[in-house]
Amino acid sequence: MIEKINFVYTDDITVVNKEQFDVHIILYEGYVDAINRIDRELRDKPDRENANATVSGYRELKRGETYALDGVILHELYFDNIGGSSQPDQTMRKYIEKYFVSMENWSEDFVATARASRGWAVLCFDQRSDRLRNISLDSHDLGNIAYSAPILVLDVYEHAYFLQYANRKNEYIDNFMKNIRWEAVKRRIF
Ligand SMILES: [Fe+2]
Repeated sequence: MIEKINFVYTDDITVVNKEQFDVHIILYEGYVDAINRIDRELRDKPDRENANATVSGYRELKRGETYALDGVILHELYFDNIGGSSQPDQTMRKYIEKYFVSMENWSEDFVATARASRGWAVLCFDQRSDRLRNISLDSHDLGNIAYSAPILVLDVYEHAYFLQYANRKNEYIDNFMKNIRWEAVKRRIF
């Protein structure tokens, strides 16, 4: 059973207002309910005999399992890494510069990735290539690198900003870049 994390809107969250934040939280909580329901169904009454790849209840559960769980995980990482006006410290800076040459280059690439994405922009460590990458996920479970660790997460689904920003997606992304909780990001690596 996955427990909901109680995210509270704080004054240092400037990327979104409280109204936008609160409706987004409701959506997050829906994903927690969904993965718990799917886990229950997979445990209690799985119809394994009729599983097939064209149409089957088992297929639906398996599609829903990663969609809902990735929806939970990505939202938790996102809500945890917004807020504050901190800058990355020296350690964090050096770490990013090692792979992206400069913070500016990383930032430009992350913004472009977010603009190009329909779901999520994620800075992640790709273990196979032994490097950081900015990746685009068009859906919670579409576009992930199988063996990678997310470090910084930005939700660019329209539901994340449309109430407040309407179609001004780029403005939302720019405001996110000024409101990253770098302490939370750093905790994921060091
Ligand atoms: Fe979202």
